[in-house]
Amino acid sequence: PMLLKQLNEVEMMSMGLEISTEDIYSINNGSLKDAIVHFGGGCTAEVISSQGLLLTNHHCGYGQIQSHSSLENDYLSTGFWAENKSQELSNKGLTATFIKYMKEVTSEILIHLSTDMTESDRKEMVKMKGDSLILLELDDGHFEASIKPFFKGNRYFMIVTETFNDVRLVGAPPSSIGKFGSDTDNWMWPRHTGDFSLFRIYADKDNNPAEYSEDNIPYKPHRHLTISTDGVKPGDFSMIYGFPGRTDEYLPSVAVKQITQVLNPAKIAIRETALEIMDAQMRASDDVRIKYASKYASIANYYKKWIGENTGIQKSRGIKRKVDLENSFRKAIIEQGKSAEYGSLLSTYEDLYNQLEGLALARDYFIEIAYRTVEIIKFSNSSSRFISTGQKKDLEAFKKSITGHFKNYDVTTDKLLFEALLEKYENDQGSSKYAPPYFSEKVYSAEHLFEKSFFADKKKIETLLKANPKKIQRKLAKDPGYLIASSLYGHYRNTIYRDYWALEDSLDVLDRNYLKALMEVLPDYRKYYPDANSSLRLTYGQVNGVSPLDAISYGHVTYLEGMIEKYIPGDYEFDLPTKLIDLFEAKDFGPYADDNGKLPICFIASNHTTGGNSGSPALNSKGDLVGLNFDRAWEGTMSDINYDSSRCRNIMVDARYILFIIDKFANATYLIEEMTLN
Ligand code: ARG
Ligand code: GLU
Repeated sequence: PMLLKQLNEVEMMSMGLEISTEDIYSINNGSLKDAIVHFGGGCTAEVISSQGLLLTNHHCGYGQIQSHSSLENDYLSTGFWAENKSQELSNKGLTATFIKYMKEVTSEILIHLSTDMTESDRKEMVKMKGDSLILLELDDGHFEASIKPFFKGNRYFMIVTETFNDVRLVGAPPSSIGKFGSDTDNWMWPRHTGDFSLFRIYADKDNNPAEYSEDNIPYKPHRHLTISTDGVKPGDFSMIYGFPGRTDEYLPSVAVKQITQVLNPAKIAIRETALEIMDAQMRASDDVRIKYASKYASIANYYKKWIGENTGIQKSRGIKRKVDLENSFRKAIIEQGKSAEYGSLLSTYEDLYNQLEGLALARDYFIEIAYRTVEIIKFSNSSSRFISTGQKKDLEAFKKSITGHFKNYDVTTDKLLFEALLEKYENDQGSSKYAPPYFSEKVYSAEHLFEKSFFADKKKIETLLKANPKKIQRKLAKDPGYLIASSLYGHYRNTIYRDYWALEDSLDVLDRNYLKALMEVLPDYRKYYPDANSSLRLTYGQVNGVSPLDAISYGHVTYLEGMIEKYIPGDYEFDLPTKLIDLFEAKDFGPYADDNGKLPICFIASNHTTGGNSGSPALNSKGDLVGLNFDRAWEGTMSDINYDSSRCRNIMVDARYILFIIDKFANATYLIEEMTLN
């Protein structure tokens, strides 16, 4: 945002922006940025009332909605609407972070760095010098700050933030609206998902951040967004303001090849195995369905994204595009007499990515299987600290994790996952030079493990934990779950982690030099903007349909009609609430219909977004909220490594549909009243 004036204002104006970039981001005056929130560290949310009301995605609040749900009060299925502030539900650990300001500190940092430093010394120096800059900057304890690299570490910015930690759930539609189409429709256009939920920030009586307390009051924001009910049409200027996590626009062709031909296929196959097992278990039992809903969604999400990314790179000939660029680069450095400086960049990339391949693959197997999916391994490993130290405080820390772990645990599902995934792990990685020792020394069957391990059974481990620490330590150290975990985790730590990150460090150096070289040698090749790095970021484009493949073209907007077309009574993905059907039959859309009398649901635009942009406001040329970002269209999920405006589209819920659901479906008119509509 702080670079907008200099880099983008002229173009934005020519595309239709009607406010100034100062209205979007300003250090000194109130601006739209004061309404944008980093939500729980992974999503975006925005303030939409003077009483701290937050709008974000249903899938961003999913964990919270789930954690308040039980078989009796299944808010995932029925939705949840607090009827007044006293019914709003608190969420331990959930945060809302505002950006106070950002400032460039490139020269203050670079002055301490030299090209002959090792990359890890460099990082340490950045950290140390950054910390002292932060110390100078923040005189009271109120704000926090961090230093982030931009343009691969060619520039640095300090980002000063304020974090609130009493954030309460206000409302969520039922999943049949908020997650309509579920995984079948995820990453897809045409889409009909009302992917939104509402939260509220609470502060102490002085409007400052405070831990949850009954005495806290709704936060009074510096700015809240105005919501426009004017809707959108093709060609409209569009902006997304939020906290995208990571893009890699400047990767060399070898990297894109490795990602799409080696790493993605392996991860896709692992997740496919896991998802099949979980799906069958969830369909067979409501208890398992609730416990695994969130885990399933998160595994399914990137599974499908990677498939789209691979297809997109292939169909758009993304690798060839990179190779063409590299050829122009080679030619240009010769013409410009810069071979001494930049001539070895591309061959070093080749070399490093070759060295990385086996390690990166081994790392992905470890992370996907032992770290993320088979829970008994991860959970057993969480006791390892206590087992090695025998310290009381480590035992306490482990004890604290038990309730949370078993709350969403189903031992049968985990056992099936263990069997299938460890077999796959062994088959695929057993003969690799990075194979874990567990495979050669394997003594435990799943049968034995799940029967004998304390980590498989809540009662068993709770009983054991009543014993004295010495005995607990002795027992757990021999536990089959722990033996497997320590074999896998120990191997990862000792033989993969260090070498992998050493190579990544070397690649960081290259990335920094390559981007600098590209900008210098081929300045007109493209507009060079920094990759996303989880900091506040603005992207702009146009509302528009898309024709991603020959003879296929998509419109820019979907309507309630389309939801009715997709409706499958009783289906867990495509069922609809009766009330929504009734409203459809009666055409009872209140003031929220489009000019053609139809109720809009979602629309698409050419904004370059990524993970973390979920919950970001879609703003029109006046800076009013017209939609809520939540996804990308499948044909364009390659945008993380190769954005292409002719194929890539982000997907937003239309603001009018959100208002319609709150007002006409949930009758939560008091929420509409606190918003500012125009
Ligand atoms: N694809 C969107 C994003 O990356 C939405 C994810 C919601 N999860 C799901 N499995 N439907 O976050
Ligand atoms: N759904 C994504 C998220 O959770 C945003 C969409 C995307 O990755 O484009 O952040």
